[in-house]
Amino acid sequence: MEIRYHGHATVELVIGATRVWIDPFLTGNPLADVAAPAAEADYILLTHGHSDHTADVLALAKKRGATVVATYELASLFGAQGVEIHPMNLGGAHRFPFGTVRLVPAFHSSSVEGPDGRPVYAGMPAGLIVEAEGKTLYHAGDTALFGDMKLIGELYRPDVAFLPIGDNFTMGPAEAVVAAEWLGKPLVVPIHYNTFPVIRQDADAFIRLLAERGIEGRALRPGEQITL
Ligand code: NI
Ligand code: MN
Repeated sequence: MEIRYHGHATVELVIGATRVWIDPFLTGNPLADVAAPAAEADYILLTHGHSDHTADVLALAKKRGATVVATYELASLFGAQGVEIHPMNLGGAHRFPFGTVRLVPAFHSSSVEGPDGRPVYAGMPAGLIVEAEGKTLYHAGDTALFGDMKLIGELYRPDVAFLPIGDNFTMGPAEAVVAAEWLGKPLVVPIHYNTFPVIRQDADAFIRLLAERGIEGRALRPGEQITL
């Protein structure tokens, strides 16, 4: 599969002819390399409801009739707006035509902004395991470091892990290095940093920290792509 990073936590997978987007946040994302009208999605996988992960779900979903895959509550919020959905929940996997998606735990929160600006409950936050073409990808979503990442490493053995390093809202670089160890030393791509001043981080320093532990890291520039 081809994996393209679009800044923040937004990742696009091209698996054969199928385009799968994770946490589309292009509109309002100062790091985004593409504008929402130029993006094409067949499936949209969501880790949680916060706007820096879901800003362009409606625009993308309605364009080509893409299916939104998320926890029951979050999927239902989009379903009520006329979007095709596939609700799931933590621990569950489903085989889609392009591959298998599993929702795993994440320690964070999940809400969408209600009409009065207050947060509306959007179910549990999740991480995503995507298995396709014999490869396994882990997108941790927004999360603190938690011990069961060891279990994720043991059970699913990711080839690549997208880990937040921004701190403040998620774990920071030091915790992400521990996460990478517990996940079994996959290729690590840092996400959720430098989008806003409060999550500014030195990605090169993070890559060096990983290297000291014998872990390969790649800080992808927005628009950059790797093939797995
Ligand atoms: Ni969040
Ligand atoms: Mn976030």
